[in-house]
Amino acid sequence: MHSFVWHPYTQMKDWKKFDIITEGRGMWLHDTHGNALMDGVASMWCNVWGHSNKELIKTIKKQAEKLQHSSLFNLTNDKAEDLAEKLVKLAPEMYRVFYSDDGSTAMEISAKMALQYWSNMGEKKTKFVSLENGYHGDTIGAMSLGYVPLFFSKFKSSLFPVLRTPSPNRYRIPKGYSFEDYQEFCLERIEQVFSKNDNIAAFVMESGAQIAGGVIIYPNGFQKKISKICKRHNVLFILDEIATGFGRLGSMIEYKNQESIPDIVSFGKMLSGGYLPLAATLASKKIYDSFLGEYKDMKHFFHGHTFTGNPLACATALTNISLYEKYNLISKIKKRASQMESRIKEISNMDLVGDVRHTGMLMGIELVSNKKTKTPISPKKRFPQKIFVEAKKHGIYQRTLGHIVMVIPPLAISEKELDFLLDGTITTIKNVSSQM
Ligand SMILES: Cc1ncc(COP(=O)(O)O)c(C=O)c1O
Repeated sequence: MHSFVWHPYTQMKDWKKFDIITEGRGMWLHDTHGNALMDGVASMWCNVWGHSNKELIKTIKKQAEKLQHSSLFNLTNDKAEDLAEKLVKLAPEMYRVFYSDDGSTAMEISAKMALQYWSNMGEKKTKFVSLENGYHGDTIGAMSLGYVPLFFSKFKSSLFPVLRTPSPNRYRIPKGYSFEDYQEFCLERIEQVFSKNDNIAAFVMESGAQIAGGVIIYPNGFQKKISKICKRHNVLFILDEIATGFGRLGSMIEYKNQESIPDIVSFGKMLSGGYLPLAATLASKKIYDSFLGEYKDMKHFFHGHTFTGNPLACATALTNISLYEKYNLISKIKKRASQMESRIKEISNMDLVGDVRHTGMLMGIELVSNKKTKTPISPKKRFPQKIFVEAKKHGIYQRTLGHIVMVIPPLAISEKELDFLLDGTITTIKNVSSQM
């Protein structure tokens, strides 16, 4: 079959033939040839319940018969209202919800909100600070905030400048530091940058862990300390929970777990159970109030999208959240997380495995060509492609990030299914390692 689709992050010269997925059932994706693959990456980290969940489908059908889309420009809709109320109740200290369609736009909104907040307050604060290895999406603003050199160097000259401070990767601490010292160094760097620049609008970071930048899980207290530094320096604290909230790290609202209240926070991916494109940027009362005034003051937020607050997506998100409560998903995640943890030793002992980083339903397995020097496997070895092909032989849809194999299953995966995924991943790494 000739395809007209241009795929993301894909050398199309290499990839002439793609498996065509036509159905999803539970953890499994089914292709046109009748093959089934376990969805080992939760369809890009967003799937919660597996595919074709009856309760979510019922909601989508019911809503589709009533109202498919209606604008939030001068109108509202019942599902957008209900969901906003629910989100504000779930997320401590958040006051209003601004909807968008995906994580990248949610982060663009965070940045614009922060910039306009300072403008509304009559202050000239226009610069952002973020963590090295952070990732916040693929649009121009999101790439500027979360600059991953491997992905974005081609666009660098068009990105706005952002000051960056180091993130504490336990596996790659600079020589001469203990991990504790290095954490302190990372925090001091933030203090220094804030002290030297009085025009910092906001500090931006992923909440709980950096995923796309290499699965870097923050040590206890790190995020909390940053939130305090921000407060001390009158810098807004923006969190990105797009990939880490809604249970991925084991908490519904990760910043609650990290004891670090943001001024602005974004959710996406799992918000709709991974069924429909939806993201939400939540703001505190302090932020929201600064946008109020007379029309002539031009303080209102200058942002909006066609599908903002789409009722189909919002209705699906409402059911999704009710299912977390109904099935007590967060406590089930804790059990599955221990199951993942119990395999770490076995994985770490494998030949090319330099480090295994895990929390909640997130695992990153870093492969190196030399365990002593920690040299990452060279991109020339075509490692991600090899892993993808080998994993398929073991019935798994697996996607790596450079030299890091990611295990990011749908959150409601069962014990047996998770064993299948972990066994298959281990065999895949073993077999690919023997070809290196
Ligand atoms: C932390 C984080 N922020 C933002 C995004 C961008 O989300 P989207 O791909 O929906 O635009 C991602 C996507 O992986 C992410 O991991």
